[in-house]
Amino acid sequence: MRTLILALAIVFTLSFSAGAEAKSLIIVFSHAGENYSVGNVAVGNTMKLAQIIAAKTGAELFEVKPAKEYPSTYDECTDIAKREQNAGARPAILEDKDISGYDTIYFGYPIWWGDIPMCMYTFIEAHDWSGKTVIPFCTHEGSGAGRTDRTLNSTMKGANVRKVTAVRGSTAQNNPSASERALAGILK
Ligand SMILES: Cc1cc2nc3c(=O)[nH]c(=O)nc-3n(C[C@H](O)[C@H](O)[C@H](O)COP(=O)(O)O)c2cc1C
Repeated sequence: MRTLILALAIVFTLSFSAGAEAKSLIIVFSHAGENYSVGNVAVGNTMKLAQIIAAKTGAELFEVKPAKEYPSTYDECTDIAKREQNAGARPAILEDKDISGYDTIYFGYPIWWGDIPMCMYTFIEAHDWSGKTVIPFCTHEGSGAGRTDRTLNSTMKGANVRKVTAVRGSTAQNNPSASERALAGILK
């Protein structure tokens, strides 16, 4: 009898701790190719930060990819992005990700015309954010987080959205140790 009780206690403890385990996910959009101040890059600036976060936290990484890729040349990309923003477009994305099993979501993007890229609106609006802790990070080349603190708070309804951590794209691309320092606040 005592063995049975002990066995039940072990099963209960194991299943309870497995159920309580917090799961983290990194959702990132990043544009490789020609970019401002870093030249032509194989891995985008924001993706570089996402890779550091993945390595430090063990969180799973999901990349948002638009169904129609943005051009790799900077000027063409900025023109299309501006047109999409003016039109309030919601560009289709290649693949979706079920976020329901994750408590903490790192959310990464480059600043495009002061805001999140429109394909990130597509992703946000397809999901239920209530109860999630969202830890946003972005890269930029001068405008900091732009208006994205506001955007994320108004679109991710019911989530606890932390303040955006903003890092220069050139730092993210070329200086891993400075990037780690910049991310220290969200890697705790
Ligand atoms: C379409 C587009 C719009 C951009 N708009 C801004 C902006 O408003 N403010 C800013 O500081 N940087 C802007 N940038 C620069 C990017 O935010 C910066 O290069 C970023 O690090 C790119 O990250 P990624 O390589 O992950 O895409 C823009 C870049 C592109 C391609």
